[in-house]
Amino acid sequence: MRTAEVAGVGEFCGQEVLLKGWVYNIRSSGKILFILVRDGTGTIQCIVEKASAGGELFDAASGLQQESSIEIRGTVSEDSRAPGGYELQVTGLDVIQIAEDYPITPKEHGMNFLMDHRHLWLRSSRQHAILKIRAGLIRFIREFFDNRGFICVDTPIFTPSACEGTTTLFETDYFGDKAYLTQSGQLYNEANAAAFRKVYCFGPTFRAEKSKTRRHLIEFWMVEPEVAFAELDDIIQLGEDFIVEIVGRSLESYRDLLTDVLERDLAPLERVQPPFPRISYNDAADILKKRETGFVHGGDFGGTDETVLSEGYDRPFFVHRFPAAIKAFYMQPDPEDESLTLSVDLLAPEGYGEIIGGGQRIHDLELLKRRVGEHGLPEKAFEWYLDLRRYGTFPHSGFGLGLERTLAYICGIKHIRETIPYPRLLNRLSP
Ligand code: 4AD
Ligand code: MG
Repeated sequence: MRTAEVAGVGEFCGQEVLLKGWVYNIRSSGKILFILVRDGTGTIQCIVEKASAGGELFDAASGLQQESSIEIRGTVSEDSRAPGGYELQVTGLDVIQIAEDYPITPKEHGMNFLMDHRHLWLRSSRQHAILKIRAGLIRFIREFFDNRGFICVDTPIFTPSACEGTTTLFETDYFGDKAYLTQSGQLYNEANAAAFRKVYCFGPTFRAEKSKTRRHLIEFWMVEPEVAFAELDDIIQLGEDFIVEIVGRSLESYRDLLTDVLERDLAPLERVQPPFPRISYNDAADILKKRETGFVHGGDFGGTDETVLSEGYDRPFFVHRFPAAIKAFYMQPDPEDESLTLSVDLLAPEGYGEIIGGGQRIHDLELLKRRVGEHGLPEKAFEWYLDLRRYGTFPHSGFGLGLERTLAYICGIKHIRETIPYPRLLNRLSP
């Protein structure tokens, strides 16, 4: 007998197959049992009729409980009403283990309880759908860059210095020296861009941020392209092309999961078409002033400010030229107004906030040295970075996109904690 996976069961219509999986749900209507079996690739309804299956098989099947592990045999038939389109008429069953009292039942559970059981919660259809889309999104992101001649060059996780300010650094002991978990691969990307011209890195990054918002993780994944000789406008264009492609491919590949499982309204995603609006920080500040959000000109946007701004647009939009005072040390000054920088954020609509941050980097050695000092950073740790300005300096730009915020936006999920298999939050390090 052929062993099959649920996702490919359609190839075996009319034949008997062996499936291995777990009981997702079981209900009976007297002499018929309906066992919903999931095997990780999908779910299929398996039918045990007492009359045709016989008493022994029927009794064994009746004893199954949610999440029991089983090997089940039966004949595949097509049924357009069944979830997945196929059913199994059961002819045999081997129980690997009866799962007693599986903690996550179809009734409502509190978020803390579910998060404590994250290792089991991943089996549920909603979490399964989100993480499946995550895997696809990662593929679309990589393919976008790979297909455009970008070279993937990995950057280290243990680093000797800060990239995004010293207040959110995770310090660890490195054989007696201090090391920090990376906040961003950008500084290394800049070195890599001088070697390969167009590069990206994609990996976990860490921020010791005492934020408990629905947009903040302590450990999150970031993809960061960096392009030699690109200026601010070039990198904005790259960001627009990138978002259009990854949102478009997610829609194309996961339309059913988005609508059926996640109940995502697809209309806002369909509108993710070029061109995206581009507004300056100063214009955004004027809008916020009128809306009385408590925003102070010169400061950074808060979550409410981002939400209010995004109400004005039906698609993602860029905000550029933030004040130098609120941006990282490496930001190239705006030649038109030196108090501003050639920086850019991309804000997602529907209140999802900033999903991209980036801009043009300082390529002048003296200015960069000055900034390192002004930001209270140890020049010694940045010597290698300054070398990039000593030996063939070049204008260059890049950005970082947060994978989880982007996935939350695509899936229409309120809180970022469901977008990563094992979230690290202010008050959560387990499971
Ligand atoms: O704006 P950020 O801090 O930019 C950088 O780190 C740059 N060095 C990137 C670059 O230019 N190469 O972070 C970039 C993105 C944000 O727009 C957001 O999507 C995500 O990373 N991000 C977070 N996501 C989840 N939780 C957090 N605590 C995040 N902090 C930033
Ligand atoms: Mg940012």
